[in-house]
Formats: sequence, structure tokens, C-alpha cells
Amino acid sequence: MAPYSPPTGQRAGKLRLDFNENTVGCSPRIVEFLKRQLDPERLAVYPDYSEVRPALAEFFHVDPARLLLTNGTDEAIQVLVNTYLDDGGEALLLRPSYAMYRFYCEVAGASIRELDYRSGTLEFPLEELLAAITPETRAVLIANPNNPTGTAAPLSGIEKILKRARRAAVLIDEAYYEFCGITALGLLDLYPNLFVSRTFSKVYGMAAMRLGCLFSHEGNIAILRKAQSPYSVNGLAALAAQEAVRDTAYVENYVTEALAARELLCVGLEKLGIGYIPSQANFVLVRMGKRAVEIRDRLREQRVLVRDRSYEIPGCVRVTVGTREQTRRFLQELEEIW
Ligand SMILES: Cc1ncc(COP(=O)(O)O)c(C=O)c1O
Repeated sequence: MAPYSPPTGQRAGKLRLDFNENTVGCSPRIVEFLKRQLDPERLAVYPDYSEVRPALAEFFHVDPARLLLTNGTDEAIQVLVNTYLDDGGEALLLRPSYAMYRFYCEVAGASIRELDYRSGTLEFPLEELLAAITPETRAVLIANPNNPTGTAAPLSGIEKILKRARRAAVLIDEAYYEFCGITALGLLDLYPNLFVSRTFSKVYGMAAMRLGCLFSHEGNIAILRKAQSPYSVNGLAALAAQEAVRDTAYVENYVTEALAARELLCVGLEKLGIGYIPSQANFVLVRMGKRAVEIRDRLREQRVLVRDRSYEIPGCVRVTVGTREQTRRFLQELEEIW
């Protein structure tokens, strides 16, 4: 296996447009809440989820029995893969997509089949995926919207996949849901093979906390729980989440700002004659051409971080959007070196 080592070093103080995080940080209310709640005993005891689980279930409008708290989406993917994929079991993945799907499938010894997003537009390849599903398919892992393309599948397409892949666990990873508004959560009653994940790492600005949620039919959740460490979500993350879902205004304001910034970014790129893939998430895949890596490096010299993706989509760099002010700064720096 190739190791997965994202470039997370020395990012403090720079303009972080490289990991699709919240670029201004979490709600200050979360920090205040943690400060108030933190005392030596709190750190001495194993985490207690009895308050956070019902609070999150209520927030997401699901029955608590249909919710698994996870150490980020990454652990949701890991637990799902470990539960439903035996050695040699067939996993259907899309390419390019979030690297950890392949990572955990490889660790599990699964047999991986990959389909490409449509060439040129990088749209979701619905018909191709439907045709690729067989009775042997045990897992289908989809990011919606997808990272790094920013493109999304419509709910009607997801339903077709769920109907076709009846013998497979179908994960719809909604890490960027808030920027897009499409969710499969409402389909949980209808499809026992559906798994939906959400994260507190993106719009909530809590990536360091490592907290995710995996939703599915209660029977599936009971099985997944068997394959999970009982304390994988740390106590501070469980605490922080309770305040995070109380401050909905913070998230709503951030989404409004990020969507305006995304528009500004696209208009700015068009003015510079630079191509991009229209996005439904808080990032845009930009066609920088042969100079992609050089532009990434020159931006870094100006303390602006973006993510090179040219190793998987030639000429492409992924740029996170946060505020309009940050986007203006990015465009200014880009114009200088373009
Ligand atoms: C599609 C997708 N899913 C999940 C994650 C990671 O989420 P978490 O921090 O909750 O593990 C990312 C992060 O980049 C992502 O792009």
C-alpha cells in the first residue's frame, strides 16, 4: 500500500485554502463552552456519550438508534468497510474521490473496482456506476458532493444506486452537505442498504476534534457498533458538538459567506481566463494547466496554501473558499503570478 500522508505541517498563520476546512475557525461559543466545562476530573474519566448522542440525534432528526458517533468520517468509513467487506469482497469506488475510501478498502484486503468521473466535466457517472454494480458488489462508497471535483449526484440517482446495489452497503458521505443541500438522510426508512455520514470537520470548523456521525437503519448500526472501539470519540469532541449544534446561526452565516466567496472566485477566475469545474462544495477545482505545481509553490511563498491535484487530474489545483476577503487575497496573489 502507498501511505496516505497529507501535507498538514506548518500551516498555522497562513491562508488555509488547502484542506476544505472552515477558514475562520469554529464558533467562538464552542471554545467558551469548553473552557467553562473543562476541569481535571473531566479529563480523568472515560467519555460519556449519554448527553451528546440524543442531542445530535435530535439535531439531525433521526432516531438515536440510527446514529453512530465516530472519530471523524474516517472512522465511519473504516468501521463500515471492516464490517461489510471480507477479504476479497468487492468494493466499487469512484475516481478521483476522497483517498480514505481506497485506503481502508486496501487495509481490509477488499477487491477494489474504480470508475472515473466523466472526463472533461467531471460529472457524477450515474449510468456507468449503475452498469458496474453486480450481485457481487458489497460496498459502494460515494462522496456527495465529491472531493476534489465538487460535483454532486442528484437524489434520484442515489435512489437508483440503492435499488440496484441491494446486496451492498452504500455509503453517501455528505461531508460538504451544508454547501450543497442534497441529503440522503430522508431515505433511511426506505433503503436498509443506505449509510449516510456527516462530519464536524468542515463547516463546523472542528477538524482537530475528529467527530463524525454515521447514520443507517438501527439493525445496521447495532452491527457496526460491534466493530467499533467503545471510546473512539474523545470526551472533548463529544462536549464541543453539543454547543456546535446549538449555534446554528454561526454555521448558516458561514455557509452564506462561503457561497458568496465561491461565486467571487469563479468570476475572478473567468476574468483571468482560467477554467474551473462548477462546484457544489466549499472548494473549486481550478484548471491551472502545466504550471499547476509551480503555481501552488509560488502561492505558498506568499503564505497562501492550495492543494495540488494534478497527480490525479492533470493541471488541476483545488482551492477552498472561505470568506470573500480571503478569496480576494487569493485572486490578487494569483493574478501576480499567472
Ligand atoms: C469527502 C470527504 N469525506 C470525509 C472527509 C474527512 O472527514 P473527517 O475529518 O470527518 O474524517 C473529507 C476531508 O477532506 C472529505 O473530503
